[in-house]
Amino acid sequence: MTLEEKIGQMNQLDPSWDAEPKEALIRQGKVGSIFNVVGVKQINRLQRMAVEETRLGIPLVVARDVIHGYRTIYPIPLGQGATWNPELVEQAAQLTAKEALSDGIRWAFSPMVDVAHDPRWGRVAEGYGEEPILTSAFGAATVKGYQSQGMAACVKHFAGYSASEGGRDYNTTWIPETQLRDIYLPPFKAAVDAGAMSVMCSFNALNGLPSSANHHLNVDILRDEWHSDALLVSDWGSGSDLVPHGLCADKKEAAERCINARMEMDMQGNIYTDYLAELIAEGKVKESQIDDCVRSILRLKYRLGLFDNPYVDEDKVIAYTPEALELATRVAEESAILLKNNGVLPLNVKHSTLNVLITGPLAHQKKEQLGTWVFDAQPEHSVTPLEAFQSLNAQRSTLNVIYEPGLTYSRDKNTDFSKVIAKAKQADVILYFCGEEAILSGEARCRADLNLPGAQRELMKALAATGKPVVMVVMAGRPLTIGAEVEQAAAVLYAFHGGTMAGPALCNIITGKTVPSGKTPITFPKMVGQVPLYYNRLNTGRPSYDPPMLIDSIPIGCPQFSIGQSSYWLETPTEPLFPFGFGLSYTTFEYGPTTYEKQASGAYEVTCTIKNTGSYDAYETAQLYSRQQSGSVARPICELKGFKKVFIPAGDSCTVTFTLTPEQLGYWHESWEPVRGSDIKAHRYYFATDNVPFTFRIAPHSLPAGIGF
Ligand code: BGC
Repeated sequence: MTLEEKIGQMNQLDPSWDAEPKEALIRQGKVGSIFNVVGVKQINRLQRMAVEETRLGIPLVVARDVIHGYRTIYPIPLGQGATWNPELVEQAAQLTAKEALSDGIRWAFSPMVDVAHDPRWGRVAEGYGEEPILTSAFGAATVKGYQSQGMAACVKHFAGYSASEGGRDYNTTWIPETQLRDIYLPPFKAAVDAGAMSVMCSFNALNGLPSSANHHLNVDILRDEWHSDALLVSDWGSGSDLVPHGLCADKKEAAERCINARMEMDMQGNIYTDYLAELIAEGKVKESQIDDCVRSILRLKYRLGLFDNPYVDEDKVIAYTPEALELATRVAEESAILLKNNGVLPLNVKHSTLNVLITGPLAHQKKEQLGTWVFDAQPEHSVTPLEAFQSLNAQRSTLNVIYEPGLTYSRDKNTDFSKVIAKAKQADVILYFCGEEAILSGEARCRADLNLPGAQRELMKALAATGKPVVMVVMAGRPLTIGAEVEQAAAVLYAFHGGTMAGPALCNIITGKTVPSGKTPITFPKMVGQVPLYYNRLNTGRPSYDPPMLIDSIPIGCPQFSIGQSSYWLETPTEPLFPFGFGLSYTTFEYGPTTYEKQASGAYEVTCTIKNTGSYDAYETAQLYSRQQSGSVARPICELKGFKKVFIPAGDSCTVTFTLTPEQLGYWHESWEPVRGSDIKAHRYYFATDNVPFTFRIAPHSLPAGIGF
């Protein structure tokens, strides 16, 4: 290959705009990958240019943001996290790959495994929540699902992207190395161990150094420690962004920093095509560095079989198969979390006539229920909650569905609720579908206010004031601060954006055909000022006492000392609205005592028996938490070490057992150690388990600080 041909391979372009000059570059062999091209015919056309018109005939690898489905849309990844069922999500990834591959896509820009503590950050929707082990399981499952079908996964965004200051996208992150390794990196490692064929750099500066130029992340960790040979692609222009970041004086310097940090493919940044040859001529970059990158790119193409089979059959497009729609319904069912139920759910639609008012701005929004990052689905295939209830209505004379949206979209501020309130008065029960439109979460869609937008809070209040029971169903891209509405509601179902089949899934749960089993994959704060709030936090030396002295209980003229020296806010204790791992069922579960024993190998065997004490057969997710009583550094309140979703028929019991190796109890330590032959000391990081007492608890959700633990 000539140098020009090699540099061409390192160039990834989006020809969905400015097509002509980009197609000319493909014909000249100056493009290695394209993305955002839609339709198998168009993809084959561009592929022919690369294969048949260039000297070497190297095929393009075609990428796309396939995030939570291609045509058939599954719940947003945060909703998938709420299923606590990675096997199910692996099946969804398989069917997604079948649809995308049939349309010419060979490389999906997902999974996003950024562990997120901050619901203000719009991209919280795209990940699996706040938990490293949970995120690792879903990331690995998605990689396996895609790649088993022949579509490459791209695990992103490497790394630390989600800890952005203020929850504002693209913003700076400051993460100590130990925390990076304990919390943010494990899901990337799990995805790489699952065979992820590619990794994407993140946009942010991590501890002052943007990822595309971060040798420590891209080489020391990804290559040297993890021995990954995955292709490392930039994010969109994240290489050229080094100039606005304030790291490089110009784009040429940016190209030099990126190649020296082993960023292998440049997405839509043009810095490699514009400057690499010059940098080599000046001796600033070696051609062998280029060779390493190109080897990585060609390896991906070989692995995908592109050299044997560059084209896609134009007559075998797969979309919306009954199998996919059924699976999408199941994933949406398992992603819905029952947060409150005073007994109104499930609705009895079998016996006496039930008048159900369906209302709210998300009750019948085919596009909005799909959520963020949906480019290739046709909204007409979505089945909304209203449609699902109407079709049930057609089958059952005992159900009478009344519809009045009340608000036309989630930000609608119109407070004339007269029509909907008149209809509410005729109803026995109100189903209020509220939340956020799809565009309010996802990339660059961060919020400083986590309340229901528009006049939705007012509508909830007005509905509750009718005295009729209100079942609130929240369809949103993030946890919202819904404390007041939870108080007013008779039941609350948190559904996130459930995808194509959100309607039937929610209808099945509400009418009791399916028993809810979702659990929160992220802590729900009471108010935005609590953020970041996450379950595995440190206790502090002054944990919040109960009851704390909140702002209105402080006596006037109170002397300084009696305010108390405890860690909380004047408006709220540290407790969340709903803790991590929380979710109710229509049945009840009784957890027996957790027993554990240390074995000769150093591993712990931890066991608990769970009894289904209610009258519904149901799934329960048993969560194993550990607490390390003391350590080399302060240890968190509790840490998830494993989880199992088990099916327990009514009246039956199930014994769950976990084996924990010492490695699973280890964490990253930092020490200052002398550098040989010098007076100075340097940071060293190592992974170890302290030889101290541990306690364990198998529980239905994460535990408040110290309670019984
Ligand atoms: C996002 C990536 C995405 C890429 C390509 C970027 O703006 O951060 O997650 O894969 O665009 O569309």
